[in-house]
Amino acid sequence: MSRTTEELLELERKHSSWGDTVHYLEPPKFFERAEGSYLYDRDGTPYLDLQMWYSAASFGYGNRRLNGALTRQLNRLPQLASQYLHAERVELAAAIARLNTSKFGLDGRVHFNVGGSQAIEDSLKIVRNATGKNLVFAFMGGYHGRTLGASAITSSYRYRRRFGHFSDRAHFVPFPYCFRCPYGKKKEDCGLYCLKQFESNFDTEYNSFWDARAGESEFPAFYIEPIQGTGGYVIPPPEYFPGLKKILDDHHILMVDDEIQMGFYRAGKFWAIENFGVAPDIIVFGKALTNGLNPLSGVWAREGLISPGVFPPGSTHSTFSSNTLGTAVALEAVHMMEEEDYEGMTRRKGAYFLSQLKDLQRRYPRVIGDTDGMGMALRVELCREDGYEPDRELTDRMFAEGMKGDLVARSKRMGLVLDVGGYYKNVLTLAPCFDITEDEIDLAVELLEQLIRRCAPDRV
Ligand SMILES: Cc1ncc(COP(=O)(O)O)c(C=O)c1O
Repeated sequence: MSRTTEELLELERKHSSWGDTVHYLEPPKFFERAEGSYLYDRDGTPYLDLQMWYSAASFGYGNRRLNGALTRQLNRLPQLASQYLHAERVELAAAIARLNTSKFGLDGRVHFNVGGSQAIEDSLKIVRNATGKNLVFAFMGGYHGRTLGASAITSSYRYRRRFGHFSDRAHFVPFPYCFRCPYGKKKEDCGLYCLKQFESNFDTEYNSFWDARAGESEFPAFYIEPIQGTGGYVIPPPEYFPGLKKILDDHHILMVDDEIQMGFYRAGKFWAIENFGVAPDIIVFGKALTNGLNPLSGVWAREGLISPGVFPPGSTHSTFSSNTLGTAVALEAVHMMEEEDYEGMTRRKGAYFLSQLKDLQRRYPRVIGDTDGMGMALRVELCREDGYEPDRELTDRMFAEGMKGDLVARSKRMGLVLDVGGYYKNVLTLAPCFDITEDEIDLAVELLEQLIRRCAPDRV
């Protein structure tokens, strides 16, 4: 006999740790089915999903081609210890390595694990092993995961506070968040002041980062997200990363590119960093590689950093890394990305969605302070009447109202799944399904407008 929602919630309150997830809604919401861009609750109400599991399910819930690859592997080779090889693992690593050779002109290798944070941990080992140093730069507003090592290079102290002292905490550098410039500048005439500030760290040894005699930085790597994910889908100006890479190269500092959320066409290119014409030394990926069907993650690194002579067998290892189910789906996903024009599709649909959001911003200037997007990574920053002061309360209200499932559009009851991000938790970070139609984008905007009118009636 299936239990009622109330009974399940009672069990959850008693027996589930709340430490392994977030509890944004009280009570948390149950879903029962998923298809395409929609989640369905226990009453069968559809919820249009604009965040697709933080971009892990970019290719749509129940994607037939990817589900098919999973089922085939399930029926053929569902389990295998990682010490043995299977074809999909080898082919997947080769496909990603070759893609990167063609994109960046660099040879490298691919290393697997499960979960984004664990892949970040592995990349930290690669950096430490190759450079003999353990301090790194990372961005304010950056998010790299919640294992101990990943928390140490994630900007929020909130994620570290309960868990003791982290001696290898990153040095956090301001991100070029132009709508809220950390230096109070305007992007039209700032001359990339933030980059100059970073570069000035290396002017003299007394700034604490650089030994000019040895030609060495105490910080061997800089962890970046090309577009900040949890930070609120913040898109930097086009010249920023090329400038940063030059400074890093001049000081023999590696660039580690965290593509866990923005990789695999979320930002209109296979890797988001390609939008900026920069070749990183290490790339970390996860999430959408398997469309969320398996937690497979991984790291690509330049040959000199990861060849077996440098980074020997067993340097990191996990029972489930390169598991057969994950690698089979991921290989199919990579083939699918090679065969179909995701670049054109994500750019076209993203541009259409963004134009609709800009129109919403024009009509509700006392609610929306900023809209922006790259590919299908889109942001709506909710502000108070002045169009600037962050409005966290309104953002929370819109998120919660969307989850009630009582909006009515096109004579149907439905809900809207949103995700909240940003430095002040006032940004709707939109990561819609790549298969979303123009008509569904229109519907999404209609539902967003309903939420604005319901949650901020005095400002419309
Ligand atoms: C950019 C980025 N890095 C790392 C992570 C951590 O990945 P995971 O949650 O799979 O450990 C995330 C997760 O949201 C992310 O967005």
